Amino acid sequence: MADCPVNHIAFIMDGNGRWAKKRLMPREYGHKVGAEVFEKIVDYCAAIGIKAVTVYAFSTENWKRPKNEVEALFKLFTDYIDNRTSTLMKKNVRLVFIGDRSAFSDDLRTRMEAVEAKTKYNEKLLYIAINYGGRNEICHAVNELIAEGKKEVTEDDISAHVYTKYSPDPDLIVRTGGEYRLSNFLMWQSAYSEIYVTDTLWPDMTEADVDLAIDEYKRRNRRFGGL
Ligand code: FPP
Repeated sequence: MADCPVNHIAFIMDGNGRWAKKRLMPREYGHKVGAEVFEKIVDYCAAIGIKAVTVYAFSTENWKRPKNEVEALFKLFTDYIDNRTSTLMKKNVRLVFIGDRSAFSDDLRTRMEAVEAKTKYNEKLLYIAINYGGRNEICHAVNELIAEGKKEVTEDDISAHVYTKYSPDPDLIVRTGGEYRLSNFLMWQSAYSEIYVTDTLWPDMTEADVDLAIDEYKRRNRRFGGL
């Protein structure tokens, strides 16, 4: 679908814990299945012509979760880097991690930088948000501008310094799991994004659910403040 009206789609992948609980399984199992679904959905988005995908995988607030759960999530992220770099090359996907890396081990940071460098010239974009907070990102952008000597900043300056600077802002933000909030996701970039909430829990998310979100997007009349 070369004429997909959505160029950049973002997902708040919520509901893994509830999905696992319904099956009397530990939350970690929900994240494991969630990681498989993440790959399926990213592939589908590429197949229908979406150029950039952002996923919210770990927020700055998620450190408050039990140690086991945090460790299980970081294992999924590390495994993804270790096992999927060649797949990303084959699929022409540039991977960029967004968020504050200062909390990560040197080893993880090195692995992140390596996959980013390797995939840098690929055409499609995949942003994975880990230790990400939207307000934190805006502070980071402003601090970079201050370090460059700016005394006053413009909107364009900030847009050029947020982590997602390699693509236009998301047209559509999809939240699974039924909650109507952005939870500190893409605070700067979401100014004009359409927001679509579905009760579907992330591990149940299918290609058909993506189609439903895009159909709804097509019905919305984006005015960007005009008439
Ligand atoms: C929120 O659901 C989900 C997360 C905090 C983790 C999302 C991460 C993944 C889907 C794995 C992604 C993997 C890679 C490699 C990028 P929740 O557990 O808070 O759900 P709940 O509201 O039902 O408790």
